[in-house]
Amino acid sequence: MNETIDTILNHRSIRKFTKQPLSDEQINTIIEAAHSASTSSYMMAYSIIGVTDLEKKSQLAEITNQPYVKENGHLLLFCADLRRNTLSADNQAYEQMKTNLENTEHLLVATIDAALAAQNAAIAAESMGLGICYIGSIRNNIHKVDELFHLPNHVIALFGLAIGFPAHEPDQKPRLPQKAVYFNDNYMEDEEMKSSIQQFDRTIEAYYQQRSTNQRLDSWSNQMIRKFSTPKRLDVTDYVKKKGFNKK
Ligand SMILES: Cc1cc2nc3c(=O)[nH]c(=O)nc-3n(C[C@H](O)[C@H](O)[C@H](O)COP(=O)(O)O)c2cc1C
Repeated sequence: MNETIDTILNHRSIRKFTKQPLSDEQINTIIEAAHSASTSSYMMAYSIIGVTDLEKKSQLAEITNQPYVKENGHLLLFCADLRRNTLSADNQAYEQMKTNLENTEHLLVATIDAALAAQNAAIAAESMGLGICYIGSIRNNIHKVDELFHLPNHVIALFGLAIGFPAHEPDQKPRLPQKAVYFNDNYMEDEEMKSSIQQFDRTIEAYYQQRSTNQRLDSWSNQMIRKFSTPKRLDVTDYVKKKGFNKK
């Protein structure tokens, strides 16, 4: 195909990095790639914080319980950010903007913008031979992360992206069959979907039993049932509202 597609299709999350830091040039290129992503209505409703302070990295590693949050070549924190879009407004204009700022639509807009920027960053990093791992577990203690980075109103922490020189070569994790995620014209019937999922469960069972590390007996369906049965990060709702998002 081409090198871009090869890079994308070769993705796997990297959770062990060498001690080598990224160069300033590598960081700049990755951020430029993030910054070139499409953005809803030209809002650019996200911010990225590069985390270099070792104390902050240690605190994030503790919150996430993941050593690679501290031990990596560079760490980025992605935020949904509607603050810049309001800063030039006077009181009267701000009052008029408030309904839109606080509706669910604009939480989605800012979150999508941040995710698109992050995935551009991820692909740029991978294309340079670096490894990446997204870090959603910063939301284990979202209020503490917010304090740690002094995030103002209308800015919320979403996830981290650990980047670095890979120090392991994990197996690639299988994905659902394409027919279970890409449909022609109409959404798939449940029965057909269930049969695709069953097929995938057999694939993933074999993957978990045969992979080079952390072998286990598990299926995707069981994993999902476990995940959704355990209440998780219920404080995120209050956090988001407190920061002025999704109030309506
Ligand atoms: C938004 C997001 C958050 C994630 N958070 C974490 C995380 O906190 N810790 C981690 O080890 N992996 C995290 N991951 C990585 C996923 O576990 C991983 O992408 C998934 O299991 C598929 O594996 P692969 O990326 O190796 O193909 C996250 C991925 C995404 C997209």
